[in-house]
Amino acid sequence: MFKETILKEIDDIKARYPDPKSALLPTLYIAQREFGWLSHEAMHVVAQSLNLPEAMVRGTASFYTMFKHKPMGRHLIQLCTNVSCMILGAERLVDFLKNRYSLEPNITTTDRRFSLVIMECIGACDRGPAMLVNTDFHDSLTEERIEEILEKYK
Ligand code: FES
Repeated sequence: MFKETILKEIDDIKARYPDPKSALLPTLYIAQREFGWLSHEAMHVVAQSLNLPEAMVRGTASFYTMFKHKPMGRHLIQLCTNVSCMILGAERLVDFLKNRYSLEPNITTTDRRFSLVIMECIGACDRGPAMLVNTDFHDSLTEERIEEILEKYK
């Protein structure tokens, strides 16, 4: 169940739309923010909050890659390895994350500090390799810069 403050946040979102279905994506974001990932229980709570069929909530959540369907680390690293970033050394950075942090794609470190997801283009092709850590954007990455950046995420 959501806390009262979260239910108020969801009510505010619902009030913006004539149909509660329109509030589904923002409410799923809230559930992910609150629970860390979208478990069956979290999606059940979303369905109840919006008075929508649970199948609709699950179907929508499973369609979008930005929703997490398993527990993740405290910090999600999304590294682009698409063409421009690959040419600029992204694959070397994947190896670096593996060797330095025991972090592999779709894996969470044993201390639950980081999870790594490989992304397609994140819109910084001229400044690659690029990554997001949670919602923070970082570009022009090198091994040294990654180490410096990740120090800030405990
Ligand atoms: S290819 Fe990596 S940001 Fe576009």
